[in-house]
Amino acid sequence: MRLFNKLLGERSASTPIEAALDAIDEARIEPPHTTSRESLVALVESFPFWYQHIYLGQGVYTLSTPRLHNRLWRFLEPMLPDDLAGASVLDVGTNAGYFCIKTKLKGAGKVIGVDNTDVFLQQAEACRAVWELDIDYRKLDADHLHALDQRFDIVIFTGILYHLKNPLGVLEQVAEMCNDAIVVETEVIPPTRENIVHVRLGPRGRVAVTACRQGFMKFIEKDELNEDGSNWWVPDTECVLGMLRTAGFTHFSQPRYLEETRMMLVATKRPQSLLRLTPSS
Ligand SMILES: C[S@@+](CC[C@H](N)C(=O)[O-])C[C@H]1O[C@@H](n2cnc3c(N)ncnc32)[C@H](O)[C@@H]1O
Repeated sequence: MRLFNKLLGERSASTPIEAALDAIDEARIEPPHTTSRESLVALVESFPFWYQHIYLGQGVYTLSTPRLHNRLWRFLEPMLPDDLAGASVLDVGTNAGYFCIKTKLKGAGKVIGVDNTDVFLQQAEACRAVWELDIDYRKLDADHLHALDQRFDIVIFTGILYHLKNPLGVLEQVAEMCNDAIVVETEVIPPTRENIVHVRLGPRGRVAVTACRQGFMKFIEKDELNEDGSNWWVPDTECVLGMLRTAGFTHFSQPRYLEETRMMLVATKRPQSLLRLTPSS
């Protein structure tokens, strides 16, 4: 776990300007009841590490500096309505619940966060209690999302795709449960690389070995990515789009790159979505 934190948790803003932008507005509002600064610090220190940078009030954060998810929110917020007006949200791989808190504070109705790791769910519950928000956290492996037996307007699917052994199968489950939109953020093969894979393609009778420049997913057998054995696949952006289309999503935002190898996009199942596929200025 410490290694996980060291290798992934420290991935932060790439420039001082980015860091400053990421830090903006995380502390715009305070939790509803004042808790002493000392007890908030004690709460933070009661966990050996945190992955997410979450504001707890009184100037106290779970981590001292913003991380990738804070930048992702900065990209995502202009695509959301000012008021989520009771929209239901599922956050897959919720960790300490950053996106559950953010969407709930923006007026979401039912919000469920799932994760397969106890300590992250304990952190999520601790943060939820500070903010006194009605968020339902469940221990659930993403492979079994069907077990929720519920539907959601928005699914947050960030930092999770590459952790899945069967990403397309999970995206198909998500699409069945999703009324409207999915927010995807993932490690990707960088778009600038001149990657080529030669593979047999073509109609029956005219199949030929063909050079392909996109639509790949690299298998990670052991812990070659960040020494983290829970990473299984790194797709390129076209592969992510193709899996989302296969799962049933039909409309897409422009992919945006938070870092060279981190891409986010929004996909929807209908042209009129709660989310703006083009961010408002
Ligand atoms: C890289 S973190 C991303 C956290 C958060 N979604 C974000 O974007 O900041 C991955 C999270 O997914 C959880 N996770 C990994 N594999 C999972 C699985 N198969 N089912 C459910 N949760 C999983 C981990 O415990 C961790 O909290």
